[in-house]
Amino acid sequence: MKIIHVAGARPNFMKLAPILRELKKMPEVHSILLHTGQHYDVNMSDVFFDDLNLPWPDINLEVGSGSHAFQTAQVMERFEPVVLSEKPDLVLVVGDVNSTLACSLVAAKLDIPIAHVEAGVRSFDRNMPEEINRIVTDTLSELLFTPSLHASKNLLNQGIPAEKIYFVGNVMVDSLLYALQIARKRSVWKRWGLKPGSYAVLTLHRASNVDDYETLRELLAVIAQISQGQPVVFPVHPRTSHRLMDAGLDALVQSFPGLILCEPLGYLDFISLLSDARVVLTDSGGIQSETTILGVHCLTLRQNTEWPETIEHGTNYLVGTNQERILQALDEIYKNKRGQPERPEGWDGKAASRIVAVLRRHFHLQ
Ligand code: UD1
Repeated sequence: MKIIHVAGARPNFMKLAPILRELKKMPEVHSILLHTGQHYDVNMSDVFFDDLNLPWPDINLEVGSGSHAFQTAQVMERFEPVVLSEKPDLVLVVGDVNSTLACSLVAAKLDIPIAHVEAGVRSFDRNMPEEINRIVTDTLSELLFTPSLHASKNLLNQGIPAEKIYFVGNVMVDSLLYALQIARKRSVWKRWGLKPGSYAVLTLHRASNVDDYETLRELLAVIAQISQGQPVVFPVHPRTSHRLMDAGLDALVQSFPGLILCEPLGYLDFISLLSDARVVLTDSGGIQSETTILGVHCLTLRQNTEWPETIEHGTNYLVGTNQERILQALDEIYKNKRGQPERPEGWDGKAASRIVAVLRRHFHLQ
């Protein structure tokens, strides 16, 4: 059996790594790892291969950046000949980035079954490009592997037949638990002379936050205030870095005394930084899951989340971008101790083995 596994952008790598590790145990499966090249900087891509023990991609489409239509079209145009020549039995896609959507469209038109890992996740906000990618990919997929019971329910509500839906748990947690011990030993905070539990971590890259000048300014105003009380480590995503420069706000950000700016970090360094943080402020999806498992408080700087279980069971607070609300939530958090979350069902480090068990059954493998 031949599977093409699709990776394109930073959050895809930690979702694929545990699946490829499990499949390596099955000699009857030939896995081809395809990188679309949506992310290409060393610290947005290459470093994750080392950190996660991922094999180097067999194929790289080298599409690079561009508008949504351009990037999606480039991936489609370059992926189609690969599928035609490799004739895989399955295309496995993860997450919700443009590469996920583009490769799903190609596979569906060539009548190749698609497995979608992290299916059914919804923010119910169609202004998010990722929400469009999720809805279309789920509609086209044959095997839908969901990370949570909420996600399974969303698929049923969308009219996806129950026999295509497999609740397997969260593969991101597989990677986190696999890497945690090694990551913790890195004590990456030492790099800036910090102490564990004494600093905040900030990440920002959502188009709705960084591409909108007013929202970006409001967020920076609150960060300026927070960083007066404690150091805030801010690994800056390339999109954000470009927007700060375009908006002429880069000098302002550099002037905040408690704000520590750095390049995007690799997986192990970032997990090390997260695991010892006092609080995390973010607009990322994956970080909401990671902080829930680590028991670190997380303020999500968005109006909605596709991970409701991190609020119900975990350490996540949805606070939007309003200054007063963020500062009030931070105040409340500091009155509490470090979180003692329950792990959502299936967030146990075994999601990849459940995915592979389904593949075995579905394709009648030994
Ligand atoms: C993409 C995903 C988003 C995911 C994020 C994780 C989509 C629609 N969005 O957003 O869901 O959360 O990745 O990082 O697929 N750039 C570089 N170097 C790189 C990659 C990007 O400089 O290696 C810059 C380019 O200027 C590019 C911009 O970042 O135009 C945005 O990159 P893009 O892949 O289009 O979207 P992300 O914001 O990274």
